Amino acid sequence: MRTRPLKVALLGCGVVGSEVARIMTTHTHDLTARIGAPVELAGIAVRRPDRVRQGVPADLITTDATALVKRGDIDVVVEVIGGIEPVRTLITTAFEHGASVVSANKALLAADGATLHAAAVKAGVDLYYEAAVAGAIPLIRPLRESLAGDKVNRVLGIVNGTTNFILDRMDSTGAGYSEALDEATALGYAEADPTADVEGFDAAAKAAILAGIAFHTRVTIGDVHREGLTEVTAADIASAKRMGCTVKLLAICDRSADGRSVTARVHPAMIPLSHPLASVREAYNAVFVEADAAGQLMFYGPGAGGAPTASAVLGDLVAACRNKLAGTTGAGESAYTRLPVSPMGEVVTRYHISLDVADKPGVLAQVATVFAEHDVSIDTVRQQSRDRGADGVAAEGASGAREGGEASLVVVTHRAPDAALSATVEALRKLDTVRGVASIMRVEGE
Ligand code: HSE
Repeated sequence: MRTRPLKVALLGCGVVGSEVARIMTTHTHDLTARIGAPVELAGIAVRRPDRVRQGVPADLITTDATALVKRGDIDVVVEVIGGIEPVRTLITTAFEHGASVVSANKALLAADGATLHAAAVKAGVDLYYEAAVAGAIPLIRPLRESLAGDKVNRVLGIVNGTTNFILDRMDSTGAGYSEALDEATALGYAEADPTADVEGFDAAAKAAILAGIAFHTRVTIGDVHREGLTEVTAADIASAKRMGCTVKLLAICDRSADGRSVTARVHPAMIPLSHPLASVREAYNAVFVEADAAGQLMFYGPGAGGAPTASAVLGDLVAACRNKLAGTTGAGESAYTRLPVSPMGEVVTRYHISLDVADKPGVLAQVATVFAEHDVSIDTVRQQSRDRGADGVAAEGASGAREGGEASLVVVTHRAPDAALSATVEALRKLDTVRGVASIMRVEGE
């Protein structure tokens, strides 16, 4: 075994970084045995050096991240700062100085992964980022390496714990969105500014990374259709329950049926309670992968938090160190298919549409005509007369004509292009007899 240690620089020492430092200093024996050489924490760059960090060697702290990555004797840089700049420059500088990089930075990888991959290849070093998607769950390596011989057709996942917690609370307690968000904030799941989570930016970055790896092409966050969960109401959740479904914020990456393009999207969707993702509760993450030969696979676990994310970082660190010792590099970017990313309008999906309509003869026929005109086939219709108050299935006119009365009409469609479905909804809004569109949600996982 080599006795000269491999040197590691840590950029960032917050919740994840301090766990990485702690594990590196407490598990040195095992890490040394697994790598085949001792591994040494050589410096830790932070913005606030005075902050108390339990178990982190104070003598390694510096505020000069640039000088640290330029030292020249660093074998691996671990980046857990986040954000685009100055991190992109720090990472490319680290590559130029011969270091491999382990990053947890989903925003940067989703915005400009191509630049980082190219810089790593040019320098002959590794870029690993298991921790960027779904925390502790091994997902990048299985997609990049274990499934490298298969053809992945779909990745469908819950990749944001905060929003899953909120939806789970809405589902289990009947709470509204704001109430559930307040609980998520009080328990420390949601940040003071929850925008990145609740508007779907965090999940969209992860979807871009997963789609690129799964389909061997380049997908950036700008290619991902994104809708958050702020518009999901308690009524949507109740409606999903009536259909035997629950609502999840899903990241969905698809290869098109003809194999010539891919799509990536993040939005709330109803999924049947029988789908494995429906049982993912609290702040857990889970990703469902469908591949030609492997069939259906599911990856499940904690998607955030200091220790779980550090677990993924350490796994990458061991791999990068082993490669350094062997004088080689691991699997790099694979974007050879150059498959274009199609817009959301071309995605084929199903809608659940809840309408408030006038309860009088001819309304159901009028609504059905709008669907037919847009070439959208209806799967099921449920009508409930408001003044009857019962939750019964009633064909048009069965409850009698109630001039001036109102009914709730729930239509679930068969699969159709999203553009046709959204055009149908727009046309429905224009009907005099449609008093309002109470909710629209896609249905997935069937
Ligand atoms: N904020 C994310 C979540 C974790 O709630 O899952 C970091 O990606």
